[in-house]
Amino acid sequence: MDSRSWLLLEPDPPQLRLPDDLRARDPLGGRDCGWVAQMRPFVRHYAAPGARVFDPFCGFATTLLAAALEGRRGCGLEIDPARAQLARERLQRHGIDAPVAVGSLPDAPAPLPFDLCLTNVPYFGCRWPDPAGAPGADAGQLYLERDYEAYLRRLRDIFHAVRAALPDGGYCIAMAENLTLGGRALPLAWDLARILGALFVTREERLLCYARDPRALAPGDASTDRSHEYALVFQKQRERICLDSTGDELQALREAGFAFELHGSYPRWLADPDARAPADADLLLPDDQAEFDRLLWWLHERRYELTLWGEPVHPPLRLPRLREHWYLRAQRRDRLGRLVRLDLSLADQAAR
Ligand SMILES: C[S@@+](CC[C@H](N)C(=O)[O-])C[C@H]1O[C@@H](n2cnc3c(N)ncnc32)[C@H](O)[C@@H]1O
Repeated sequence: MDSRSWLLLEPDPPQLRLPDDLRARDPLGGRDCGWVAQMRPFVRHYAAPGARVFDPFCGFATTLLAAALEGRRGCGLEIDPARAQLARERLQRHGIDAPVAVGSLPDAPAPLPFDLCLTNVPYFGCRWPDPAGAPGADAGQLYLERDYEAYLRRLRDIFHAVRAALPDGGYCIAMAENLTLGGRALPLAWDLARILGALFVTREERLLCYARDPRALAPGDASTDRSHEYALVFQKQRERICLDSTGDELQALREAGFAFELHGSYPRWLADPDARAPADADLLLPDDQAEFDRLLWWLHERRYELTLWGEPVHPPLRLPRLREHWYLRAQRRDRLGRLVRLDLSLADQAAR
């Protein structure tokens, strides 16, 4: 892979495509099957030879096939048992031994430990046939999620579990495109980037471009053929906070009359600047709803992003919700990219 921010992809040769007989057995006719050519450069670049590549939305095992062709080991999770079977048969025909388990994160774990997560997310609004049989069958199938916010929350939970299993420094690459639904653009790829950016350090995006014959548009027709998608590149890494800006912000909090105690790695670093630099400043707060609200408004007005486990929140926020989540994260980045991250929790909870 070179420094260009886009890749122009060539279709796979017939021997690497999903075979017609397997395609014919799929309810969507394999319409959502990706290209091996799309995955190979990312496998080569982000996983060392012999490393393990995991696809949490394994589909027809295109990622696992790409991994094997590049001398990496693959494993996958697929919610649909029939698709998992198609994936196994496809791999078998290539003589590849890579486990495809049926299930979904966070309930089912990845079949094996992994070094790189590389996937194509299931799109919202995909017309997956409604399940026959008992209500709740196919409950984990994201293609069947009717509510966009719920769909995004479920993706977040899945990638949260990816993050937990990924080693420090490992990459998580999710491919997605913005969609057109009901005549409107739905920025799925950008929403996904925002969600994953709260779990990982956002490294880059690469544009994947597919050559298609253009067609003429009537003047004012805003549609395009959407012949591109994004490969969103994230890394599990401790992000460095700016220690000077954090110190300034803590001073500003004291001057505004807020009572708090510092806890954990930040005061340890203050006591010993040779200690590992902290990734955040943990503030322990008194159990006082009015003061907590005042603090949240103060942070909100200073343009802090406030989140509970990656979900945006706005003041006021009841203390029991903070208790449920243990901490609230307040962070902001200035125009030089300097990060201040404050984790707020209740002193009585931390003492337990
Ligand atoms: C875009 S397709 C992946 C295709 C794959 N990249 C390929 O080319 O072979 C997304 C897959 O995610 C699966 N899926 C949907 N919800 C899931 C979930 N909660 N956990 C695991 N897989 C899921 C779908 O059944 C579908 O096969």
